Amino acid sequence: MRNIAVLTSGGDSPGMNAAVRAVVRVGRSAGLNVFGVRRGYEGLIHAELEQMPLGSVSNWVNSGGSKLECARSQEMFKLSGQKRAVQTLRNWDIDGLVVIGGDGSFRGASKLVKLGARVVGAPGTIDNDIPGIDNTIGFDTAVNTLTYCINQLRDTAESHQRTFVVEAMGRHSGHIALHAGISGGADIILVPEITWNEKSVVRMVQRRIDQGKKFHLIVMAEGAGRAIKKPDYGAFELVNYIDENTPASVTVRGCMPGHIQRGGAPTAADRIYATRCGKAAVEALLNGTNGVMVGELNGQMVEVPLKNAVRGSRRIDRELYNLATQVS
Ligand code: F6P
Repeated sequence: MRNIAVLTSGGDSPGMNAAVRAVVRVGRSAGLNVFGVRRGYEGLIHAELEQMPLGSVSNWVNSGGSKLECARSQEMFKLSGQKRAVQTLRNWDIDGLVVIGGDGSFRGASKLVKLGARVVGAPGTIDNDIPGIDNTIGFDTAVNTLTYCINQLRDTAESHQRTFVVEAMGRHSGHIALHAGISGGADIILVPEITWNEKSVVRMVQRRIDQGKKFHLIVMAEGAGRAIKKPDYGAFELVNYIDENTPASVTVRGCMPGHIQRGGAPTAADRIYATRCGKAAVEALLNGTNGVMVGELNGQMVEVPLKNAVRGSRRIDRELYNLATQVS
């Protein structure tokens, strides 16, 4: 193996740059030439590659987003796009590719493997929804960012005796909502994995009012509507429902931090994890491994076949959810 390439794909996540840095540094010290691919699979299809010397990743460990840039490539869904991507790898003499991304990116990676490429994945997504591992690069930062947002809202909620509904990212999973909900001291946490209904939310708010509680913080995963078979039901729908079904004295507001949760400098935990993933990905390639994702399970770095990494979504921790209900 002489040449490897690395790309970041799907939604950016804090720590992706730290992972690329580790791929470059570990790869170069193993005597490999490392190429960076711009704009994820789009850049691979259109041959946007450049050599990455050691110095090219200075100041990357601490930066958010993806300096290589990300894309959600439509062409990669087509066989023609996949073939072009593999052809680029051949044209550039790339012996192994590291794909840093989420489940969609790993589906693309599996297609490239089928067409003869050697690919290893590293889990870069804030959603923490990848099965077979405990953690994804960017999740810790997103949880910290959302916790910060909840802290900020708490001040106004308390000062004005308001009810806030805060919408967490996470696509179809509730990991960010659950973790930030607990760390932000939310009164109610709604996730797609556990059924709930609007009436019981109103009942909970009412019960808290009867107990003398003056303000309420509800953290709702963006996909929580799936649990009540209303996939498009979001924070603002719930705000309206609570507003219409509680006394006029209850003032309700919604807050959607949105992509703020995806940005910003990675936490120390994400930087360290990203660095471990980058190193493990290069080592997997050097060992001749193909078609796996590297990641952490029970504190150990493991390799998970890509086909398992895209099978469903990682479950939320029920014990943690029960704990959240006990302390709210
Ligand atoms: O997968 C990361 C994520 O931020 C999800 O939490 C969210 O549902 C989605 O990406 C948003 O995607 P986009 O930035 O393409 O709108």
